[in-house]
Amino acid sequence: MVDLTLRTVRDDEDYAAFTAALYSVFLEDPQPDELELARKFTDLDRMFGFHDGTRWAATVGDFRKQVCLPGGALVPVAAVTSVTVSPAYRRRGLLTQMMRHQLDTVRARADESLAMLFASESMIYGRFGYGMASQNSVLTGQVRDLDFRPGVELGAGTVTETDAATLLAHGPAIFDHVLPGLPGRMSRTRPWWDDLIYDNEERRKDSGRIRFVLHHEPDGSPSGYAIYRPKSAWSSIGPNAELHIEEVRATNPRAYARLWRFLLEMDLVRSIRVDGAAVDEPLRHLVADPRALQCQLQDGVFVRLVEVDRALTLRRYAAPIDIVLDVRDEFCPWNTGRYRLHADTDGAECETTTASADLAISARDLGAVYLGGVSLTQLVTAGLVGELTPGSAHRGAVAFGWPVAPAIPDHF
Ligand SMILES: CC(C)(COP(=O)(O)OP(=O)(O)OC[C@H]1O[C@@H](n2cnc3c(N)ncnc32)[C@H](O)[C@@H]1OP(=O)(O)O)[C@@H](O)C(=O)NCCC(=O)NCCS
Repeated sequence: MVDLTLRTVRDDEDYAAFTAALYSVFLEDPQPDELELARKFTDLDRMFGFHDGTRWAATVGDFRKQVCLPGGALVPVAAVTSVTVSPAYRRRGLLTQMMRHQLDTVRARADESLAMLFASESMIYGRFGYGMASQNSVLTGQVRDLDFRPGVELGAGTVTETDAATLLAHGPAIFDHVLPGLPGRMSRTRPWWDDLIYDNEERRKDSGRIRFVLHHEPDGSPSGYAIYRPKSAWSSIGPNAELHIEEVRATNPRAYARLWRFLLEMDLVRSIRVDGAAVDEPLRHLVADPRALQCQLQDGVFVRLVEVDRALTLRRYAAPIDIVLDVRDEFCPWNTGRYRLHADTDGAECETTTASADLAISARDLGAVYLGGVSLTQLVTAGLVGELTPGSAHRGAVAFGWPVAPAIPDHF
């Protein structure tokens, strides 16, 4: 058995070997331009894994990002990425050791008490205390069926096609304006914007060149944008293009509706596809025939509370709550214990207590309800959370729930 060393990536040459190993496990070839983009938001000292002296046998890392929590706070989060174990080393506990090391490391950082990730396979991370906290939806429909309900106001703004530079000049301010109302979304620094709008052969393969439009108010101020890729197609009876819509953001409802009308009325386009939409995407309520907009659900982001008490104080709660949680956490035992959470829409306090518990909950399920998109009541009904005081599940569900569903369209 070869000796494996758990270590951090040392320099760019080492990072090239690290990315080659991880791409190989994902059955892909590294693209130099993509790597160059990603390097701009990668801290090498957050990338680590097992090295066998010749090559990387296992890789993992995290990006330092800011996530929006219920109530609008933007807080630092370890956005976990690059998880691979090469086929020759699988099922010997390497992932488990890396998860152990990573969560200890995140805990030791001064201001991070949350970790989040997307899973290639949704069975992997529950054992490490990650709970599925959001669902992303894929929306599809035929544009001829997607009229709006009567009475929807489009306002007097205008939509114009624009280039990447103009989108980058106005899009980030629009995104930052709406971000506090969107739990689960992550803030974007310039390198993340560059990555979002980047275009190359590979990204064009399934859906054409990336395009942008801006919405302007009658006074000329930009108030919305859309990012999309048209996939040209012709059938025996004529045009059959599909629009792949990546993002629509607007600072007011009229701009939002007008941007969608623009996208839905494009000549030659017959269908749309929206990846990474929220389950409560407002478009679903705008259309006259909701059935015409098909919604397919996928698992979204998985959340891990690394420091339960700190994490619970970061978010806001939809209703006043005073509750004692009995938390079990096998993988991060420092979290195991009883916590009294006293919170409302303005703030939260959380401290350990010896008082009797109202709810018995695992760290995994606490992660699942953390962004407000999973109901505590339903976890009690499923037998996953124990209701020790009658009525506490309902009280907890109302407080932990949030009016806007969490969603994270940005992959990392
Ligand atoms: C997923 C992966 C990292 C697991 O690595 P590993 O070193 O084999 O994992 P471990 O040996 O530490 O396994 C720990 C536990 O997780 C389970 N497990 C690991 N991968 C799993 C999977 N894909 N599905 C379900 N369970 C899995 C193991 O069976 C083991 O269970 P046990 O504790 O009950 O014995 C590895 O299989 C891999 O690289 N897969 C391809 C790339 C990928 O999907 N990465 C994840 C990106 S989000």
